[in-house]
Amino acid sequence: MRFLVRLCFALAPGLATAQTLSGDPVVGRQLAERWCASCHLVSSRPAGPVGDGAEPFQSIADRPTTSALSLRVFLQKPHGQMPDLQITHQEANDLIAYILSLRGR
Ligand code: HEC
Repeated sequence: MRFLVRLCFALAPGLATAQTLSGDPVVGRQLAERWCASCHLVSSRPAGPVGDGAEPFQSIADRPTTSALSLRVFLQKPHGQMPDLQITHQEANDLIAYILSLRGR
């Protein structure tokens, strides 16, 4: 399964769907740990206490309404007093790929 997912990412750039598939979940996880972990539970094993009631990424990923599109729209603006990080399109793709990779874990 992991291999298939990687294969999809590897093949994605040539396809019309590249916009939604070109994120790298490994990079996305690093970004999430740097930028999002102060409020969200990023991995299923927390390194320490997480503050202010933001939903864990796991449960966001498991919501049936969550999709690459809903996440992209949401991430276009800062939220929850999060600093304006000026997330680039590529960084948003990586974060989205990471969050969606948690689905069903
Ligand atoms: C300063 C705290 C803070 C930071 C930093 C933060 N968030 Fe959030 N986030 C929140 C809060 C609070 C909510 C719930 C309320 C809301 O939607 O504004 C939330 C909600 C969300 C949601 C759920 C949207 C939905 O559909 O309900 C997503 C996705 C999300 N954050 C992603 C991220 C990502 C990705 C990062 C890092 C780039 C990040 N957040 C950084 C506080 C934060």
